[in-house]
Amino acid sequence: MPKVLISDAMDIIAEKILRENKIDVDVLIDLTDTKLLEIISLYDGLIVRSATKVTKNILDAADNLKIIGRAGAGVDNIDLKSATDKKIIVMNTPGGNTNATAEHTLALLLALSRKIPEANKSTHEGLWEKKKFKGNEIKGKTIGIIGFGNVGKKFAEMCFSLGLNILIKSKTFENYKQDYPNYRSADLNTILLQADIISFHCKPNSDGTSIINASEIEMMKNNAFIINTARGNLVSEKDLFEALKMGKIKGAAVDVFNKEPAKDSILFGLDNLILTPHIAASTEESQIIVAEMIANQFADYFNNNRIVNEVI
Ligand code: MLT
Repeated sequence: MPKVLISDAMDIIAEKILRENKIDVDVLIDLTDTKLLEIISLYDGLIVRSATKVTKNILDAADNLKIIGRAGAGVDNIDLKSATDKKIIVMNTPGGNTNATAEHTLALLLALSRKIPEANKSTHEGLWEKKKFKGNEIKGKTIGIIGFGNVGKKFAEMCFSLGLNILIKSKTFENYKQDYPNYRSADLNTILLQADIISFHCKPNSDGTSIINASEIEMMKNNAFIINTARGNLVSEKDLFEALKMGKIKGAAVDVFNKEPAKDSILFGLDNLILTPHIAASTEESQIIVAEMIANQFADYFNNNRIVNEVI
């Protein structure tokens, strides 16, 4: 019987589906790297979310590992090159948490525009500061969406339905922009100059560099917002901190950090910055979907030799 390790917290449905499909499962959360290294050779499959770092070291010790599954979209916690060198299949669950992530991004946009976090705090303190919390409407504003994968598409659809003008920066969008006559294709400079809101829905740069640094922020409108629910290094944290402190842009919302878990960050403590702990994709609904998807994909692989949603 194939043996699979689930090493990050996920819905119990994953374990249930694997067992029903005659796959032996161990669920061992919060393993240290040393412990994972010690036991990984016992397993034919490994299922992770984002906490487990599947490094070259781990893969070098994974003598029996055939498949790694990511219950989620991003695979930046998995050393894809080392996995390929060892002929280990990597698969993810694209689309499974798209709606959750798009909704969280929208929640951050509305919270920023209507100053919800500060208004909540002040009202709890009995201050009744009506004048201080005059917000802005998003209808009629221009949003620049960087990346047009599942989440970028879903978020654009939500924004369009709320009356925003949509600018899209994406190589793939160029190929099928005729299918989206309501959106405009734009390069980064156009977005920096024209957008009231910039939201990230793309992969990180492979060399780890940021797309938005001080010089890009300099080009933005003073009343603009930046939202990042994609990956931590897309916006330079140091430059974002300086810009927010100096009032170069109006505000930002960040769900993803350079170093996670972010127990200490240069971004902590700013009034015009909303922070959430990488929870954009974390809803009860989406976590069931991704757990179900990855377990069914593993069952298909071990029982039918079928590879679904491989990441290459
Ligand atoms: C993803 O890549 O799917 C999201 O960032 C959520 C997660 O880390 O699980």
